[in-house]
Amino acid sequence: KIVVLDFGSQFNQLITRRIREFGVFSELHPHTITAEDIKGMNAVGIVFSGGPNSVYDESAFKVDPAIFELGLPILGICYGMQLMAHTQGGKVEGAETREYGKADIDVTTDNLLFGDLPKNQVVWMSHGDHVTAVPEGFEVIATSPACPIAAMANTERKLYAVQFHPEVRHSVYGNDLLKNFVFNVCDAKGDWSMANFIDIEIAKIREQVGDKQVLCALSGGVDSSVVAVLIHKAIGDQLTCMFVDHNLNRKGEVEQVMKTFTEDFDMKLIKIDARERFMNKLKGVSDPEQKRKIIGNEFIYVFDEESAKLENMDFLAQGTLYTDIIESGTATAQTIKSHHNVGGLPEDMKFELIEPLNTLFKDEVRALGLELGLPEAVVWRQPFPGPGLGIRVLGEVTEEKLEIVREADFILREEIKNAGLERDIWQYFCVLPDIRSVGVMGDGRTYDYAIGIRGVTSIDGMTSDWARIPYDVLEKISVRIVNEVNGINRVLYDITSKPPATIEWE
Ligand code: XMP
Repeated sequence: KIVVLDFGSQFNQLITRRIREFGVFSELHPHTITAEDIKGMNAVGIVFSGGPNSVYDESAFKVDPAIFELGLPILGICYGMQLMAHTQGGKVEGAETREYGKADIDVTTDNLLFGDLPKNQVVWMSHGDHVTAVPEGFEVIATSPACPIAAMANTERKLYAVQFHPEVRHSVYGNDLLKNFVFNVCDAKGDWSMANFIDIEIAKIREQVGDKQVLCALSGGVDSSVVAVLIHKAIGDQLTCMFVDHNLNRKGEVEQVMKTFTEDFDMKLIKIDARERFMNKLKGVSDPEQKRKIIGNEFIYVFDEESAKLENMDFLAQGTLYTDIIESGTATAQTIKSHHNVGGLPEDMKFELIEPLNTLFKDEVRALGLELGLPEAVVWRQPFPGPGLGIRVLGEVTEEKLEIVREADFILREEIKNAGLERDIWQYFCVLPDIRSVGVMGDGRTYDYAIGIRGVTSIDGMTSDWARIPYDVLEKISVRIVNEVNGINRVLYDITSKPPATIEWE
């Protein structure tokens, strides 16, 4: 295993992630851990991440100096390099100009870190301070015009450091450099896989939970599904899942959740039928924000009431991902924005949290889900908003309109699947605006609803473009919806990007 010490860089988990991609287990730990802690970890190497501080800041993150005496290889990155220089007797100074972005470096010696990589390469820099004198026993191994000591090493002690960020894709050979460190300097084996991750996490969960009980709110989405299955694998019936049916799910979804978790995985799952309750609360409400609030709050009330009925629940499992954590600030990373876990749970609940996915990225969670045997339909489920169909029926939500949007949406999903486009379109769904128009069916006049189709491509939902769904696929969808869904006589395709529109209509 390679231990990464967290000095607060936004990229720190990327380092562990890259190393895991090489088949070597890697974990992020706070910079406050001691040499003794590391001794018990069976580590073959250590990485110091970057960070926003200057080593001269009063509050600068320090490191246990005994870590340098463990005899383990260390790679310092950015702040990690400055810290290594500072603690080993070198000199760090503020650069005249901050260097931010791409830079050209020249490798000046033969060494294991750069190995066979080109002597001249493009890297990605982001720093104010830099090292101006290497500690005794170190040599400069790479240089750039703005940063004469771009990398340094004490090869005898296996201490290496780079001013740039090899974990960022813009560093063209960054990945190879990390690989050189992991395999050539640390001599790691490379036999780790998701299956090992499961074993390790299961052991951790068992240790944390002991003989206590865990409650998990299951939404049917990939994160909560994976977390539930993983914990179930660890502690079996000490886990109880709760699924709140608010009547705003897509067609077949409640059934799929029940089948997957109770039949396929034989888990304890309580379904709360809150359909009427939600519909009553939504009666007569047409303002989108008010609808969102009602649905969010009602979810919390229901969960609160129902979980209070269960006895002896000590832990609450959540599918928090690593990205959720960086967005709200880790112990050391700076806060970018506060993250709201959707359908957020009450803050005053007396549960201890258990969050086994909080070191993983979304695609790693998907890989984990597949490894755990979850069906592809669950693992690759497209994003679905917390308020569900409640914000896809525009204006007042009624049973009749929910039924229409559910049926149309089902046809859309079926045809996208038939066309083999499921993975190409990031999100696709139907919305029911409150528009009626005139049509002719058979020999008769109709005066029915129009339905909107939304299909978008996106990386993270922050921005999006409308998906270029082929005309013949759109045609099939349109014909089927009008023929098969009562109450619809017209189909519209939304061709707006985000911004200026949003993905959802409400
Ligand atoms: P918008 O409509 O803001 O949506 O462009 C961006 C992405 O977020 C999803 N979305 C939500 N997800 N709770 C969620 O978990 C919500 O309240 C919510 N509102 C929108 C939306 O489906 C899209 O993927």
